[in-house]
Amino acid sequence: MYSEKVMDHFQNPRNMGEIEDAGGVGTVGNAKCGDIMRIYLDVDDNGIIREAKFKTFGCGAAVATSSMATELVKGKSIQEALQVTNKAVMEALDGLPAVKVHCSLLAEEAIHAALWDYAQKKGIVIQGLKEPKADIHEEEEAG
Ligand code: FES
Repeated sequence: MYSEKVMDHFQNPRNMGEIEDAGGVGTVGNAKCGDIMRIYLDVDDNGIIREAKFKTFGCGAAVATSSMATELVKGKSIQEALQVTNKAVMEALDGLPAVKVHCSLLAEEAIHAALWDYAQKKGIVIQGLKEPKADIHEEEEAG
């Protein structure tokens, strides 16, 4: 039911972790399944995403899509990163079962939320980026 690529990114996730003092952090969740995804981005002075990391509390497909999404945005400009849609993530993973499409949507939303956070911190406007609707505010992290 899962492609080899999905299994690979689930079992060996790329870019798992967090970036301290990240340029932008986006946290989103899906109310139905309860899964939460957080993506950290570091953007250099030329507007290129140098580093991307994620923390996902969710299903295997959510882990795989976070892993692939962070891989896809690394080295890209902000405008290019906006093109990393859930479809692009799914294609890169050779597809997802229909019931798991929403997991890839979480990845797209988390990237957008992180870019939005970056823009807010920088006081800039990113063309074509809408304010994330599903943003979950940072919860107190224990320990
Ligand atoms: Fe909800 Fe995967 S089942 S993110």
